[in-house]
Amino acid sequence: MDIVMLHPSHIPHVQTCNITNLPENYFAKYYLYHALTWPQLSYVAIDLSKPPKSPHDPPKIVGYVLAKMEEEPLDGIPHGHITSLSVMRTHRRLGLAEKLMRQSQKAMVETFGAKYVSLHVRVSNKAALRLYKDTLQFEVEKVESKYYADGEDAYSMKQNLDFIWDGVKKEEALYKKDDKKGDAETGEGAGDEDEGDPVGDEGQEDKKPKEVMRKVKIGRALGVSDLVEKVEQPKASS
Ligand code: ACO
Repeated sequence: MDIVMLHPSHIPHVQTCNITNLPENYFAKYYLYHALTWPQLSYVAIDLSKPPKSPHDPPKIVGYVLAKMEEEPLDGIPHGHITSLSVMRTHRRLGLAEKLMRQSQKAMVETFGAKYVSLHVRVSNKAALRLYKDTLQFEVEKVESKYYADGEDAYSMKQNLDFIWDGVKKEEALYKKDDKKGDAETGEGAGDEDEGDPVGDEGQEDKKPKEVMRKVKIGRALGVSDLVEKVEQPKASS
């Protein structure tokens, strides 16, 4: 199984997966809008056990997460939103939905500085609720009455992404520490001196003949007589 970023060529196959699993369906251009605007946030799960037989065959897409950043957050806080998530029946309970969600959430933080992620889910959707509440630790923010076209209510759920921020900061700190340790061991980087030999014109500087500075008279300092070609007149003999 492989998890890769949603590519525009995947869209028809993602649409098939969506129509098979959910009653909330979207035009292809809505998927494209996600893929082009926030390419780091949407992913597909591909079953590699059934590789395409020719380069023209599509990859076998068995799940997807379609996600975006909220463009005008009412609370002024940058946050992501899960537009849609589904996995084909044949590939459920393998941890694919969890992986797709975590991949998207990480990118929301690392790429767009999201502080939290939100989503809507049907109050009757037990499997998804278990995934969101128990596995991913989302919390119910409120119930939105008759949110869905058929009149069903939705839970509006939220997950704080601080834990990802903490992970990112820890990774950065480790990276910096490793960098310093490496420098100390190799002696490299101390004082950040430039130890390279000069190259190019600069490198040839000491090989050039030294120019000798001479004082020359210019303009008025030169007496007119100095500017006139002198034809030495033989002195008249007296
Ligand atoms: N019953 C109970 N708990 C479940 C179930 C289930 N049927 N499915 C998943 N979970 C919970 C479990 O805690 C599971 O961990 P476990 O297997 O170790 O017990 C955990 O979620 C992780 O499960 P995954 O294997 O990652 O989930 P899966 O890949 O099977 O996909 C999903 C779950 C997406 C809900 C799938 O069942 C599905 O596609 N359903 C139909 C579409 C759908 O409802 N999508 C969500 C709509 S909301 C929205 O799109 C924002």
